[in-house]
Amino acid sequence: GILTQDELKKIAAYKAVEYVESGMVLGLGTGSTAKHAVDRIGELLRQGKLKNIIGIPTSKKTHEQAVSLGIPLSDLDSHPVLDLAIDGADEVDPHLNLVKGRGGSLLREKMVECACKKFVVIVDESKLVKYLGGSGLAMPVEIVPFCWNFTAARLQKLFEGYGCVAKLRTSGENGEPFVTDNGNYIVDLYFKEDIGDLNVASDEILRLAGVVEHGMFLGMATTLIVAGELGITIKNK
Ligand code: A5P
Repeated sequence: GILTQDELKKIAAYKAVEYVESGMVLGLGTGSTAKHAVDRIGELLRQGKLKNIIGIPTSKKTHEQAVSLGIPLSDLDSHPVLDLAIDGADEVDPHLNLVKGRGGSLLREKMVECACKKFVVIVDESKLVKYLGGSGLAMPVEIVPFCWNFTAARLQKLFEGYGCVAKLRTSGENGEPFVTDNGNYIVDLYFKEDIGDLNVASDEILRLAGVVEHGMFLGMATTLIVAGELGITIKNK
């Protein structure tokens, strides 16, 4: 293509920031796509084109980025209702259901984005799938570290009919467990087949003691902005 993937991410992010109005309480997403949106919000604040924004970051990393840009920040305790959140996704299905969390921030993302009146998802076209899990990439589940092997085995067993393999996410060279902002671990689920009813899958995962949250964001996105080689596509729920 003529545009790089990062340029497409930036195009989607800048489009989403057009939805931002002065005075809004904003959920600030995490990842390489959302980063462009946060940069842009910082720029518009600096230029005085946006005023009185309060940002609610979805990770420590985004918190740091927003601080460096001078975006005023708060949290869900003080602002339990948000006007708008902008965030990326790892997969988007035709019903605007998402997989998130390949960057590890799914829990805070879900807490913040569930509290938003509008949730704008920004992706380049490579993130579009027919069904969740369809990219063959990971479906992340955040679990407590206590006996993580036991929990990973139970997760794999839950979906054994779909050829599921559960792997602990590691970081660095010596294979240390990846630790989330909340001090938890992540198990990545890989499926060989479509797992079917996502709400059933969600309930079953969440019912396991030891599971904190999973990366399926079902029925949450209100707008999807996709940037592709042929331009921007916007889909509303
Ligand atoms: C972070 O945990 C994720 O949910 C990200 O929002 C998601 O992985 C998208 O990231 P990129 O925009 O970097 O692809």
